[in-house]
Amino acid sequence: MHISELETPALLVDKRRLDANIQEMADLTSSHGKRLRPHIKTHKCVELMRLQLGAGAVGITAAKVSEAEVMVNGGASDVFIANQVIGDTKASRLASLARRASISLGVDTVAGVQFAARAAREHDVNLGVMIEVDTGLGRAGVRTINEATELVRCLLAEPSLHVLGVFTHEGHLYRYVSIDERRHAADAAAELIREAGAVVANELGAAIAVSVGSTPGAELMASQPGLTEMRPGVYVFGDRMQCRLGREPLTCALSVLATVTSVTTDGRFVIDAGLKSLASDRLPDDSSYGEIEARPRWQFVMASEEHGVIVHGGEQVPNPGDKVRIVPNHACTCVNMHRHLHLVIGDEVVDRWSIDAQGCIF
Ligand SMILES: Cc1ncc(COP(=O)(O)O)c(C=O)c1O
Repeated sequence: MHISELETPALLVDKRRLDANIQEMADLTSSHGKRLRPHIKTHKCVELMRLQLGAGAVGITAAKVSEAEVMVNGGASDVFIANQVIGDTKASRLASLARRASISLGVDTVAGVQFAARAAREHDVNLGVMIEVDTGLGRAGVRTINEATELVRCLLAEPSLHVLGVFTHEGHLYRYVSIDERRHAADAAAELIREAGAVVANELGAAIAVSVGSTPGAELMASQPGLTEMRPGVYVFGDRMQCRLGREPLTCALSVLATVTSVTTDGRFVIDAGLKSLASDRLPDDSSYGEIEARPRWQFVMASEEHGVIVHGGEQVPNPGDKVRIVPNHACTCVNMHRHLHLVIGDEVVDRWSIDAQGCIF
């Protein structure tokens, strides 16, 4: 089928670029002796997870229990929730998954340990636990070595919980456009997580996992000693946010196909894709809602729920019914708006995959 036959807005994935991105990250991590545990919140798609596992990923990372449920139903055998699981209902749902797969979760408070321990006891299962360490993002995670030590001691008193290691999301690397500044921040983050890991390993008297995760940090963290695991997510698709940090636009696999619905007399045209197909993320230094492929001078200046407004400036003026492809600002929030990924090679649709965990935010 040709892409012009698709109902729009439709999410397209360039299959060749997707395969190349998956392979490249698998090669990067394996060449540095790191385990790859990709974050599936980016794609929420069982078929795509299978490709990542097929390329050598040791397991997957998820943000939410509901994502983990979908992925275990789709065949995942090793899932790490890189997030806090707070509340008896959520913890119990997670523990029940541990009957069918190896399950681990993040903790950064004694309360988090207690929810996990209660649920594991209730279901008579073991849960793996990773202590979250803040290495600069300023989000979740213990801030001091003393806090990490206190948590390990608390965990050691819980026989149903097994301490696997420490983890961080070095998401503050997104703040640095300059590669030198980014490298500096990555070095500092790696040092902090190694230090926390050494303290935890010492308390346990055993080797542990030291896990980092971000797409902008992948290249910079891969060669760092003392880290054992990487959890990038966006790398599979790429997006404008990654290109702002130096990613080659031709490696971006994801785009939204939209139809021109109006051409106005003031140098603009309207498409049928707005915030409900592209999401509302904006880049820090740019007001655009996305980039129109092959039309670098067109400006995506305005978006409401179902409309996008693009200034064409008199250049290659489109007609109603024409199609445009838009590279989104942020792949993860864009994908969560859709039910299907249409796999394309050139302009041919070669497959359609369900976004199985779409809307799984609980
Ligand atoms: C805990 C955690 N790990 C890994 C990632 C993956 O990072 P990226 O989105 O840069 O690929 C994220 C992203 O939000 C995250 O929150």
